[in-house]
This record gives sequence, structure tokens and C-alpha cells, in this order.
Amino acid sequence: MILITGASRGIGKFLFDKFTEDGEKVYGTYYSENPELEMNEKFIQLDVTDFSKTEELIGKLRSGISKFVLINCAGNNYNSFAHKSSADEWKKVILTNLTGTYHMIRSSLPVMREQNYGRIVNFASVVAETGIPGTSAYAASKSGLWGMTRSIAVENASKGITINNLNLGYFDIGMINEVSEEYQQIVKKKIPSGKFGDPVNIYKAVRFLIESDYLTGTSIDINGGIF
Ligand SMILES: NC(=O)c1ccc[n+]([C@@H]2O[C@H](COP(=O)([O-])OP(=O)(O)OC[C@H]3O[C@@H](n4cnc5c(N)ncnc54)[C@H](OP(=O)(O)O)[C@@H]3O)[C@@H](O)[C@H]2O)c1
Repeated sequence: MILITGASRGIGKFLFDKFTEDGEKVYGTYYSENPELEMNEKFIQLDVTDFSKTEELIGKLRSGISKFVLINCAGNNYNSFAHKSSADEWKKVILTNLTGTYHMIRSSLPVMREQNYGRIVNFASVVAETGIPGTSAYAASKSGLWGMTRSIAVENASKGITINNLNLGYFDIGMINEVSEEYQQIVKKKIPSGKFGDPVNIYKAVRFLIESDYLTGTSIDINGGIF
């Protein structure tokens, strides 16, 4: 079973559709009110910042879980120079991207450990590696995933569970569409390949991580050559 958080749009939705096409048993979560997804039995509303909700979700799915793959796509962003930033907005990014990912993992690990199998894929970002003005909250939330991933990998390696991050560059899907065309052109000039990534690269990398039982605690950069 594949469970994808943040599957209402962007990368999560793309992966949901690809794995469904492959014939996998896939569940997705959404966060904002969405009448269409409310009617879809494969989708469940979830706020990853609320641990009681991630516990409830896994409790609901538990009896149907085998070969559990957890793909943590839920995320948000807040752009502001640190000295002008709203402390509440800053903390919300950490609570969603880092603590929210931990909540999902914390709720899922007992089932994975019991079944001696698990695959966890988290989404980090090139932004955490390159130092971009205005991104301190986002960069902190994403680099936090690296340390968390290493520790959880070691704790669970003997239980058939792997956990890894994909450090994404800029993809032609999701969050990038929220910034102006002008900024998109500036970003493209910094990418050696000269273009935003095709999200199929993300799907192939997730497939690779699912199929690999000896790859854990690490991160794969998919970024068109940005360093
Ligand atoms: N797109 C890129 O180029 C890129 C690059 C680097 C890293 N990433 C990372 O990849 C992941 C997916 O990115 P994306 O571009 O597809 O993002 P996106 O289009 O902005 O979608 C974000 C998803 O997260 C959900 N979400 C937001 N707050 C949530 C909460 N509190 N609880 C549960 N779900 C919540 C949203 O649900 P609703 O729609 O229901 O509100 C939506 O499904 C993110 O972690 C992002 O940081 C993306």
C-alpha cells in the first residue's frame, strides 16, 4: 500500500496518478476543503501538524496495510527575510514540513516494524543547500529532514525499513507555479540544464527507492545540475 500526503495537487497528485496507473493500491491525503476529493474513497483529509490526526489516519487504514510505502509530500512555504518575518508563519513551515513529516513517520513506524517492511520517502530541497534569501524557514525545515532521516534509518534498518530524502531542484509542477513568470526566468538561468525538471524524474526516483532494500538514511539530488 502506498500512502501519499499532500496528494491534492502538485507532485503528490502526480505520484498518486502514476502509482494508480501502475495498479498499486494508493491512498492520498488533502488538507484544504475539496468537495471533489471528499467524494473519493481513496482520499482522506489530513492536517499533518496534528499528531492525533496522523494517528487516526493510520488507525483507519491499519487493517488493510501490507508492504507499506509512505511518501511525505505535504509541504508549505513562507518567503520573508528573517529580520522582517512573522514568527507564527515561520513556525508553521517547520510544523508542516518537518514536524508534520515526523508525525506521519511516528504513526506509521509501529505498523512497518510489526510487518518487517517499510519504505519512507521525504521531500527535501536544493533550497536548503544553496542559501537563497527569504527562505530561512523553508531551508531549516528541509535540512532538518536530513538529520532526522539518518537517525530513523539507523533505528529501523534491521526491520526491513528504509527512509530517504529526495532533494529536489525546480520542477515544472507545484510550488514553482506560485511565483511570478519573471522570477521563474531568473531561476531557470541558474539551472545548468536550463529548464525546470519533468516530474517523471521524481516518480522514477521514488520507484527506485521502493525497489531498493539497501539504500537508507541518504538523500538523492534531482536538480538539473545545480550545486
Ligand atoms: N515543486 C517543486 O519544484 C519542489 C521543489 C523542491 C521541493 N519540493 C517539495 O516537494 C513537496 C511537494 O511540493 P509541491 O510543489 O507539489 O507542493 P504544492 O503543490 O504546494 O502542494 C502541497 C501539498 O501539501 C498539502 N498541505 C499543505 N499544508 C498541509 C498540512 N498542514 N497538512 C497536510 N497537507 C498539507 C496541500 O494540500 P491542499 O492542496 O489540500 O491545501 C498540497 O496537497 C513539498 O514538500 C515541497 O517542499 C517541491
